[in-house]
Amino acid sequence: MKEVHLLKRMAHALMSGYARKQEDPYRPDWHLSPCVGLLNDPNGFIHHNGRYHLFYQWNPFSCAHGAKFWGHWSSTDLVNWKHEPVALVPSESYETHGCYSGSAVVDQGAITLIYTGNVKYDDGSRTAFQCIARENTHGEYDKLGPVLTLPAGYTGHVRDPKVWRHDDRWYMVLGAQDLDRQGKVLLYGSADLLAWEKIGEIAGSRLGGLGDFGYMWECPDLFPLDGKEILICCPQGVPAEEERYLNTFQAGYLVGSLHYESGAYSHQGFHELDLGFEFYAPQTTLSEDGRRLLFGWMSIPDENEFFEPTIDHGWIHIMTCPRELTLHNDRVYQRPAHELQQLRRDHYTWHGAANYAPSLPVQSAEVLIDVQGEFQLTLASQLLLCWDGERVTMSRRNRRTGEPEHRYWRGNLRQLQILCDRSSIEVFINDGEAVISSRYFPEGEATMTFSGSGLLTLQHWLLASCVIE
Ligand code: FRU
Repeated sequence: MKEVHLLKRMAHALMSGYARKQEDPYRPDWHLSPCVGLLNDPNGFIHHNGRYHLFYQWNPFSCAHGAKFWGHWSSTDLVNWKHEPVALVPSESYETHGCYSGSAVVDQGAITLIYTGNVKYDDGSRTAFQCIARENTHGEYDKLGPVLTLPAGYTGHVRDPKVWRHDDRWYMVLGAQDLDRQGKVLLYGSADLLAWEKIGEIAGSRLGGLGDFGYMWECPDLFPLDGKEILICCPQGVPAEEERYLNTFQAGYLVGSLHYESGAYSHQGFHELDLGFEFYAPQTTLSEDGRRLLFGWMSIPDENEFFEPTIDHGWIHIMTCPRELTLHNDRVYQRPAHELQQLRRDHYTWHGAANYAPSLPVQSAEVLIDVQGEFQLTLASQLLLCWDGERVTMSRRNRRTGEPEHRYWRGNLRQLQILCDRSSIEVFINDGEAVISSRYFPEGEATMTFSGSGLLTLQHWLLASCVIE
């Protein structure tokens, strides 16, 4: 479809959506959300020339998946964001069904995007092109076209390039499905971002001791952390167990070491990055001062997505808060990026047994809880978080079926750091040891209430809102 036609339709979608924006109880105060339509994966997350850039998978036309655009925001501080010109519009023959996920690097002084051109055919088959686009002086992106077609030995499901520089060479990981319908991650190398050569499969189902581990792996991201190479990946088709892999699709990581020349990646077991109901397709970058930062998509591509009531307001889905990653005993810890502390207002503290704790206003708030003993908290009469001395359980009713559903973490609970923003909660356990995220849709002003005999030290801040400019 012609670019100008797509842009006219996009302008129309934005104009129609504008009027509906005013009375919207679920629109986050400080998380990133789409103006209209559907947002999914974070893409092209990078810091360059004093600004963070975050692109995102976006269907401006409706609250459904479809031929994705790349929207674009930027920020100096990860908190205050502004809109940038839309980066990619699926107008070319090599991306008819979407400019799918990818990443950004700085090459020749300019942000350069590497993304997947997705093409579907009438018989249900598909192909994928890995494509390049480079920033011009207007802050827009000029497409340079495909640099890689489908590799032999894989189905049309090859996508989501994440590119980085190592020892004066470019490297790329790609999510893929082989002809036996097993999910894989491919490693490529290049001198110039244009000519790519395959180094090998570095991880996947039936590799590295994982056994059968999914029919497709999406959105890989490989980066060094504390002397190890972490591979983030999103396997699809891993059977649910009693207390883990409970979402339709998983987003997690492997800790290992990569031999770049041979592509040998020896790694340990798979761990989920977020144990909550909504989390998928995360992507990382380095901050200016060398911290590894992550944004995730606070949803899952499944049939439950479309039961979220923001659809009545013309939009759907948000990003997680920016999170900082560290490695402790070969496990990835996540903490809210410290920049978020600038949102804190009106500090309040309280200490006592949970049964006597005051209820807290949490429409947009941070709650820090030091825990001694069992307790439970309820959020907006919808979401329950229970600590029974052995595990933390988050419970709610499934929006599609109405049935109760639960997510779990086992360990020794000492502390919770909770971020609430209108329709989302992110619970950080023990200073980053685990995270449980969920959307919720309160009727009226949300409060958090407590019960149980455990002793709690509560700290509460209201969080300021910041509009995307
Ligand atoms: C993950 C994903 C990616 C794909 C994109 C399309 O959510 O399916 O694999 O590139 O979304 O929007």
